[in-house]
Amino acid sequence: MKVLLATSKPFALQAVAGIQDIIETAGHTFVKLESYTDKSQILEAVKDVSAVIIRSDIIDKNIIDAAPDLKVIVRAGAGYDNVDLAAATASGVCVMNTPGQNANAVAELVIGMMIYMQRNQFDGTVGRELSERRLGLYAFGNVAKMVAKIARGFSMPVYAYSPTLTHDDLRKEGEYGVIEAYSSKELFENSNFVSLHMPLLEETRYCVDYELLSYMSEDGVLINSARKELVVEDDIIRIMEERPLFQYITDVMPDKHDEFVSKFPERYFSTPKKSGAQTTDANINAGLAAAEQIVAFFKRGDDRYRVN
Ligand code: 3PG
Repeated sequence: MKVLLATSKPFALQAVAGIQDIIETAGHTFVKLESYTDKSQILEAVKDVSAVIIRSDIIDKNIIDAAPDLKVIVRAGAGYDNVDLAAATASGVCVMNTPGQNANAVAELVIGMMIYMQRNQFDGTVGRELSERRLGLYAFGNVAKMVAKIARGFSMPVYAYSPTLTHDDLRKEGEYGVIEAYSSKELFENSNFVSLHMPLLEETRYCVDYELLSYMSEDGVLINSARKELVVEDDIIRIMEERPLFQYITDVMPDKHDEFVSKFPERYFSTPKKSGAQTTDANINAGLAAAEQIVAFFKRGDDRYRVN
């Protein structure tokens, strides 16, 4: 089988070498398309492959239609909102992700960005500490759990609310030391910081709006390392205009980035390019897991991380 690694944001060299080794040792052919800049390049690259490993790369119906031999797509990472699942299913293509493999990297970035902004972007002025300030986690998947673990090390009380987990499920997560919030309203009311960790779905699109933000304290901080479409950008701008201490910190650059920068240079921070999962460790974990999943899929039909 021919396996393509297609990543516009490339993996670390060690991860690519590891992926190649797993694919070739299993008797498959490995090809790669890294740092591509135009859709025409991936359309050409998929035309004779049976499997594709991607990151946030958009896989739409056109690309699936251009790949008649395609059997499996593995998103080396968590979120698969970049893949047209209906088109994949219609063409009999299995889509999998690699849940948890890059979670620690994202969690470390969340805490790092919180410290950076509480210390006023290291400009030497008087900042604040995280200790004893309340952190709310909106959703409680792999990244949120790692954030909880690290935040507890900073003596932060951690609250979590998840619309999909039951109360019992959340209570069972006692090892993370989280306090259950019973609604998104309660989460935002109880938290100095709220960090978003839900997937982008129709139900979660634009779910963080003015009303929810208004429940936070005057010096509230919203952190978004998930997807830019989860928030209503105009509502964040409005709350930041009304509350001179409110901060927005993000690893997914908003469409209104320039407006945020010009209006709130000291209270807004965005990474220039999504960096949460951009560590050698996470690249190796997610990349090798993706390669192993493809080998297992072709060897014994193993599709345990299937999402469609
Ligand atoms: C994910 O969904 O796994 C993260 O958002 C990381 O995405 P990336 O592979 O594009 O860095």
